[in-house]
Amino acid sequence: MEQEKQNIKNNMKNTISSLNNKYYTSHWNEIYKSNNNNNNNNDNKIEWHITYDKCKQAIDPYIRAVSEHVNEKENLLVVDIGCGNSDIGVNILNDYNLSKLLLTDFSFEIINEITQTYKNDSRIEAIEADCRNMEFVNNNAAYILLDKGTFDALVGENDKYAMLKECKRMLHPKGFFISISFPSVQRIKFFEKYCPELGLACRLKIIADGDPADGYQSVFVFILGVQNENCTTTSSSTMNYKFNYKPMINDPVDELTTLCLDRIEYSGSLYTNKAEEDAKEDGKLMQNLFDDSEEDDI
Ligand SMILES: C[S@@+](CC[C@H](N)C(=O)[O-])C[C@H]1O[C@@H](n2cnc3c(N)ncnc32)[C@H](O)[C@@H]1O
Repeated sequence: MEQEKQNIKNNMKNTISSLNNKYYTSHWNEIYKSNNNNNNNNDNKIEWHITYDKCKQAIDPYIRAVSEHVNEKENLLVVDIGCGNSDIGVNILNDYNLSKLLLTDFSFEIINEITQTYKNDSRIEAIEADCRNMEFVNNNAAYILLDKGTFDALVGENDKYAMLKECKRMLHPKGFFISISFPSVQRIKFFEKYCPELGLACRLKIIADGDPADGYQSVFVFILGVQNENCTTTSSSTMNYKFNYKPMINDPVDELTTLCLDRIEYSGSLYTNKAEEDAKEDGKLMQNLFDDSEEDDI
């Protein structure tokens, strides 16, 4: 097993593109090293964007569909890409009784740490790996792929595209790729641009305690599946979020997501209805021109 892992690592190092490698590894090694140095009390978890508890409701229908409707129970592999020391993968493994979790990250600092943490759990393996080249995972082998903050950590569209392509390659046709990010309109555009050519269906759910326009922090949860007769995006636009996965999943679009996506479509922003406000201003002007009564609240 040890030899096998070493071979995988050597193989990885020989094949990955060197572009941005140094930045990714040194930057993140430094972060995890200084986090460990500053936390002597074993409480050194860094959980980016959102905790498992807070996103569980949004991702549950998809993971449940895999755990309940896929027959190959012994092969239900979960891969967390750029896992850091997040516990989302372990929680999913435990809550849905899936079979194996592969934790991958480009930082050897964090991989060394989590290898120690899970050394007695035969379901979990940690591998130092670049998300742009994950060839040690077979085609179509992953039923749940997780990304929380890893797309966000990549520099430029080329690297993001390389990761997305790898995700498509690894993803089982009945599986889901769950990508959790900061609230970026650019990311919507990225998925809109590349999902069709890669044959991926995509929908977006926005999680927040209130409207981001009122100052509430939000995260984007993209759910991607291989486009086929069961899994379709009924519009060419992700923004219309008509994602179906029949017949197992009934996951209606929630009000906040609808509100936010309508706003983005209209104004290009998650936070302001600028175009709408401009339209209201125009409305006020028109009213004043034709009506000299007291101005109403519009
Ligand atoms: C924002 S952190 C998110 C960590 C973790 N997923 C979480 O939610 O807490 C981004 C992670 O991506 C990893 N990373 C950066 N570049 C990477 C690459 N090219 N391949 C794989 N992982 C990478 C970093 O080491 C870091 O752990």
